[in-house]
Amino acid sequence: MEPQNLIATVPDAILDGNRFVRACLRRPVDRTPVWFLRQAGRYMQEYRDVRKHHTLVEICKQPDIAAEVTITAAEKLGVDAAIIFADLLLPLEPMGLPFEFLAGEGPVVHHPVRTAEHIRALRTDRADELGYVARAIQKVAAHFRDRLGIIGFCGAPFTLASYMIEGGGSRNYIHTKQMMYRDTLSWRLLLDKLVTVLEHYCRLQVLAGADVIQIFDSWVGSLGLEDYRDYAFEASKRLVRSVQQMGVPVIYFGVETSGLLAAMAATGADVIGLDWRQPLDESWRAVGHGHAVQGNLDPITLFAPLEVIELRVKEILRAANGRPGHIFNLGHGIVPTTPVENVQAVVKMVREFKLETDNG
Ligand code: CP3
Repeated sequence: MEPQNLIATVPDAILDGNRFVRACLRRPVDRTPVWFLRQAGRYMQEYRDVRKHHTLVEICKQPDIAAEVTITAAEKLGVDAAIIFADLLLPLEPMGLPFEFLAGEGPVVHHPVRTAEHIRALRTDRADELGYVARAIQKVAAHFRDRLGIIGFCGAPFTLASYMIEGGGSRNYIHTKQMMYRDTLSWRLLLDKLVTVLEHYCRLQVLAGADVIQIFDSWVGSLGLEDYRDYAFEASKRLVRSVQQMGVPVIYFGVETSGLLAAMAATGADVIGLDWRQPLDESWRAVGHGHAVQGNLDPITLFAPLEVIELRVKEILRAANGRPGHIFNLGHGIVPTTPVENVQAVVKMVREFKLETDNG
């Protein structure tokens, strides 16, 4: 059947709103929407060309460039959503914690937060300084209008607190967990302050045209269920609910979260991001079918031969079984040496997949 004929046979209701936002809300869609974590990044020549002239933070702070990077990646891949080009750590600066990205080392916070006094001194009244992200979103929204979903994002309180306390990435989160267990009052104050700043930051993004907000709790899998419940859940839940009150769905994402999925769903997030360590149908059952899910191809599968990639892509789509509320994605971000043509091939596979014929 020609695509035009197919569209003509789909009831209007299915085409009302773009398919990415519809899937977040578990409404029926004409096909599974697809986008990729870190879809704009070093694996793409166009991005590397921009990076020759600007640092990562410079790109984030110049709305014209951030919008261009966002739009170029989404168009080159033919995906259903564009995630604004920014970084998780940007809110640290207006809170009074400067950081930089060192080549090969990732983010470095020069004066990590380790004391109650330092936490008390963190500012929560300067989130407006993040307006450059909102201006970039406005430009992306003006470009795509309703054609693509536009995703704004922020870090979750736990994951951002871990960067502030560790001073960068971490293996064992010793300083973070020490603060959590030994000075619980200060820990709670830190998360409260983060929620205040992140609410404001998300509001700027929603007012600028973000259709959906993704909250990255990338390192929450370092917590056992009891610690998640006692030290991280409440703050995440408050942020999720508050963003939903702004009128947009929320995607709540983490990795190595197999044991946390039901608790993460209890925040009330519309969509739960899944990694690849457990099959999608098992994870979705753990999340509960009252929530949408996003995932869950291993990003390193993008280095496999096309036949292997196709097998895994189809397994994921079959596990979703046509249930409304699946957004195809990776289980974590695209890594820098990934072949772009394999990412494009996955988009084609998702677009062309038919449950009836492929399942038989
Ligand atoms: O997905 C996208 O296309 C949007 C862009 C985006 C970036 N960072 C740009 C970026 C997003 C969504 C992020 C979020 C982010 N930043 C997360 C959460 C996502 C996840 O992976 O779980 C985290 C943990 C960060 C912090 C951060 N920023 C790290 C750990 C690094 C890696 C450092 C390195 O050198 O690999 C970054 C840098 C970063 N942020 C890059 C990009 C494209 C690559 C560095 C560069 O261009 O120099």
